[in-house]
Amino acid sequence: MSQSLATVAYLGAAILFIMSLGGLSNPETSRRGNLFGMVGMALAVLATVYGPRVSEAGLAWVICALVLGGGIGLYAAKVVKMTQMPELVALMHSLVGLAACLVGFASYVDTSIQFEGAEKIIHEVEIYIGILIGAVTFSGSLIAFGKLNGKIGGKPLMLPARHWLNLGALLVVIWFGGDFVASKTVAEGMTPLLVMTVISLLFGVHMVMAIGGADMPVVVSMLNSYSGWAAAATGFMLGNDLLIVTGALVGSSGAILSYIMCNAMNRNFISVIAGGFGGGAPVAKASGEAAEPQGEAVPVSAADTAELLREAKSVVIVPGYGMAVAQAQHTVNEITKTLRDKGVNVRFAIHPVAGRMPGHMNVLLAEAKVPYDIVMEMDEINEDFPDTDVAMVIGANDIVNPAAQDDPTSPIAGMPVLEVWKAKTSIVMKRSMASGYAGVDNPLFYKENNRMLFGDAKKMLDEVLGALRA
Ligand code: TAP
Repeated sequence: MSQSLATVAYLGAAILFIMSLGGLSNPETSRRGNLFGMVGMALAVLATVYGPRVSEAGLAWVICALVLGGGIGLYAAKVVKMTQMPELVALMHSLVGLAACLVGFASYVDTSIQFEGAEKIIHEVEIYIGILIGAVTFSGSLIAFGKLNGKIGGKPLMLPARHWLNLGALLVVIWFGGDFVASKTVAEGMTPLLVMTVISLLFGVHMVMAIGGADMPVVVSMLNSYSGWAAAATGFMLGNDLLIVTGALVGSSGAILSYIMCNAMNRNFISVIAGGFGGGAPVAKASGEAAEPQGEAVPVSAADTAELLREAKSVVIVPGYGMAVAQAQHTVNEITKTLRDKGVNVRFAIHPVAGRMPGHMNVLLAEAKVPYDIVMEMDEINEDFPDTDVAMVIGANDIVNPAAQDDPTSPIAGMPVLEVWKAKTSIVMKRSMASGYAGVDNPLFYKENNRMLFGDAKKMLDEVLGALRA
């Protein structure tokens, strides 16, 4: 393929990526958005593999890598459950970071192209920054992977003077950056490059370890953004325009998403970037302990739940991570249809961090074919709870925890939540009294107007549906 044809293909791919992002911003156009992305990526890969920069000898290697990587990707897509998706995404981000590091080192030791003067400095700065972002993304994403699948505890690691440690690390990295650019030979430059890589790897670990359980969503989207910048840096090192554009698209959309998530969770964007927020922020009470919930949790049967739903005029369903685990979305849709046929106003309330990844609940409800117009964002529906007869919480916990508003000592203090306790009756469907992802007790369970429907969400909802249809 000639250079000009490859450039045209790259341009087409870049346009398709932008159209893909546009499509993905709305559930109704998201399938089309996905398709644009897939076609764009196929075009980009083909234009690269058959482009002028891959020699015939290199082609065999590239095809081997494609088959191997594609095979692993296909296998992962088939075996990974929907609930494991965030971990998989974190792992993939780490691979982008690793690739940026490896490409950086390879470009540095590759002496086939000689740069002189300003060009040499620019090339070396690209390498230095590329490896820095790549290393932070790599180690940070691996820790996020461990935290998301529960291998690493959710409790934040708060090192003493951690912000000073970070600042010190930044200064050392800048100092060695000067050394690296000033070095005359590859051997001379390798020491500052390696020192910076180790510091960046440690910074990535420290940054994510310092983040509390409930704040992980912001970290996932932030690492998504970092992986985009790592890809853009790789594009600069390889002189590949499409990689720069794609990386910048992922980097900036990830940054916007992180910002939206920070607002949704009432967290400070800068503290997120600097690492170490959440979990440690709340003020300690005089007793030094978080408030203990008062009262008793009242259980309810599936039959009584069906009765409450049948008698209600308006019902708001709040889905959470447990609905995803139980795969209860199809039964939820059946219950919704049955109630709507009986004239009940049924709507869904979606918290921005419900589940384990952005849009998790929207994806599940769309899969079950719940109509989009009854699926509301938190801000659209929170005021309606006082006029709601039944708020049905399905496998959600942290996102409906009143302690976020009432208890300044709670690790989730300040996080906006769905105010289900303001409904006439709230019903929480879960298997036990266990806490959610953030590991905090939920006073909602003990409120007078709350009922607990204990059991697996799918099983209990099947029973509720049976009772409703009887
Ligand atoms: P959680 O607070 O994690 O609560 C989920 C509840 O579902 C658990 O308490 C669990 O209780 C219940 N459950 C689990 N399996 C179940 C099953 N088969 N049937 C019925 N219930 C089941 O979830 P949430 O309310 O959706 O809040 C999300 C949390 O995850 C937040 O803390 C958020 O910060 C965090 N997080 C979110 C994301 C994104 S981007 N969305 C990413 C990472 C972390 P039992 O064990 O008693 O059943």
